[in-house]
Amino acid sequence: MSLVVLLSGPNLNLLGEREPAIYGTQTLADHVARAEATAARHGLTIEHLQSNYEGALVEAVHAARGRADALIINAGALSHTSWSLHDAVAAFDGPAVELHLSNPAAREPFRHTSVLAPVTAGLVAGFGGLGYELAVDAVAQLLKGAS
Ligand code: DQA
Repeated sequence: MSLVVLLSGPNLNLLGEREPAIYGTQTLADHVARAEATAARHGLTIEHLQSNYEGALVEAVHAARGRADALIINAGALSHTSWSLHDAVAAFDGPAVELHLSNPAAREPFRHTSVLAPVTAGLVAGFGGLGYELAVDAVAQLLKGAS
């Protein structure tokens, strides 16, 4: 069974309470459960980590090297700033998909840049919780070598 590491960055532990008009009322556990159910349909296993610390996310990407087949990353605000996470993902040799609940391109200018975009296969953004399903579907297709 292929392993997909799902990473959640800063403040995503507050989903369900945090700015519900933007991020919805579902919790991170709800989203992870949805990703897991989708992964099971594809014969994939999800391993999830949430951290508010940039270094912990960098280390999780390192730990995925040679062990996981793909990455799905909602790095929260670190998506816009973290060159160390960019470099860690660049050193991962499977497909990585960037994920956001909201559509950063339609929000404040500081969210318009993604430092992960150059090192990821693509981006799923703006679909709320459905994005967790779509990102797993995308990874499943990428692992099959389909487009
Ligand atoms: C987010 C978008 C980011 O800009 C923001 O900092 C987050 C959540 C999203 O899922 O929509 O924390 O990654």
